[in-house]
Amino acid sequence: MLEIAFVKPALPKAGALLLPLTEGAALSGLGAEVDAATGGAITRALQAAAFKGRKGQSVTIWAPLPGLSKLVVLGLGKAEELDPDKAEQSGGAIWPAAASEESALLAAEGMSAEVAARLASGALLRSWRFDRYRTQEKPEDKPKLAKLSVAVADPAAAKAAFAPLKAVAEGVFLARELVAEPPNILYPAEMAERCRVLEKLGVAVEILGPREMRKLGFGALLGVAQGSAHEPRMVVMRWPGRSGAAKGGAGKGRRGKGEAGLERPLCFIGKGVTFDTGGISIKPAAGMEEMKWDMAGAAAVVGLMAALAGRKARVDAVGLIGLVENMPSGTAQRPGDVVKTASGQTVEVINTDAEGRLVLADVIHYAITRFDPKWMVDLATLTGAIIIALGHEHAGLFSNDDKLAAAIEAAGRATGETCWRMPLGEAYDKQLKSDIADMKNVGGRPAGSITAAQFLQRFVQGRPWAHLDIAGTAWASKDQALAAKGATGFGVRLLDRVVAGEEAAA
Ligand code: BES
Ligand code: MN
Ligand code: ZN
Repeated sequence: MLEIAFVKPALPKAGALLLPLTEGAALSGLGAEVDAATGGAITRALQAAAFKGRKGQSVTIWAPLPGLSKLVVLGLGKAEELDPDKAEQSGGAIWPAAASEESALLAAEGMSAEVAARLASGALLRSWRFDRYRTQEKPEDKPKLAKLSVAVADPAAAKAAFAPLKAVAEGVFLARELVAEPPNILYPAEMAERCRVLEKLGVAVEILGPREMRKLGFGALLGVAQGSAHEPRMVVMRWPGRSGAAKGGAGKGRRGKGEAGLERPLCFIGKGVTFDTGGISIKPAAGMEEMKWDMAGAAAVVGLMAALAGRKARVDAVGLIGLVENMPSGTAQRPGDVVKTASGQTVEVINTDAEGRLVLADVIHYAITRFDPKWMVDLATLTGAIIIALGHEHAGLFSNDDKLAAAIEAAGRATGETCWRMPLGEAYDKQLKSDIADMKNVGGRPAGSITAAQFLQRFVQGRPWAHLDIAGTAWASKDQALAAKGATGFGVRLLDRVVAGEEAAA
């Protein structure tokens, strides 16, 4: 992980010097120093390049001074619009500008500690890379930068502002790593085991297998799992950050509280299909390898729990993930099967490829009956149809609670993990009517993402709930502001922000 160090301003003797500059701003601090030392070469270069300081604009000046390999001026946009959230987005550009250097200094001495910390957070988020399975990469193709120094007026204040951002970034990286892992390595039991890293942060981690799930009546989840040689798992991750255990870690809740000392926790529920072949309703071969990331909802929940525990969020939160592999085989469920969910409701499985909702139905029911959540959010790469509706720009947001939905939309705008609210309604729900059971698992082609959400809503018992369909946002096919192409970790920063709002209100 890229190390971030906050230091007092001083001109570096080697590597890259990065100068963030807002629109129309004059060079100051270290930038002005280099400009003076070079007889105004930086000012001339910015003029020649017509640099205006617009967001995304950058100018590179090679070897401006002996020893210094390059100076990069990065546009931050209009000063009056540069809030901490925008700074974080802009900070992403620091990484590609500096990655090939042995050392780099970001000149943020003119900025507040908060803005400097957010610039650094943007750089850190953008720096993540998954190279575990590359054995033959040439050294010159690898990023070299291991540490980014950030020059600020008050290093201690910036360091303090950065600490929670670092914890959140670690959660994002955990989510990305789980998503990036190949499906032969990351099957349900393996993903469940990896959740144990959260124990170090004070999260209580419980892993349930098929025997426990049979007792709980998880007929829908088990139906999906039955075609695979890999056993399913459910992981329950409890963070008691409000009910008095934030210092002592998990399991030390005060008496008089509900389940395990938690009081009406926030519940986060993730779809964890470690590979989705479609089952007997098998998917076409082209692009099927992408279905390794059908566990991105679950990965986001794990990453979120790491973020919340890592920054000691003052809330009670529970993460619950349902882990299965959806395979075709002689033991696989068939189209036409009727399964009984933990809630008692029965489902006619018309299409075995609509498996995520079956998994979530049982986990949602479990979350409600065990934890009595204040509200709950599920994340799932649930439908291809959400990509048709919203592309890769927004996650689909479905909710029965306007306040929760508004909080998620606002957090999306702030973090850049944007969500677009979609409708729910009885007319859509009717599409799920079955001739033999309480419902079908598919509602036909029209409004495929909405009928999937309607299916989930049948299991939430009227509780405040939101569903995020992240099929279009969990994975990026091109580089983004805060993530190289590949796993994005979508949902971790978004829901961390929603939780922060909850903490502020408490
Ligand atoms: N995991 C898929 C959804 C998906 C598709 C995510 C493409 C990312 C990219 C989900 O399990 C699925 O297969 N959904 C079906 C539902 C259909 C059978 C009603 C779909 O979207 O085609
Ligand atoms: Mn599927
Ligand atoms: Zn799926």
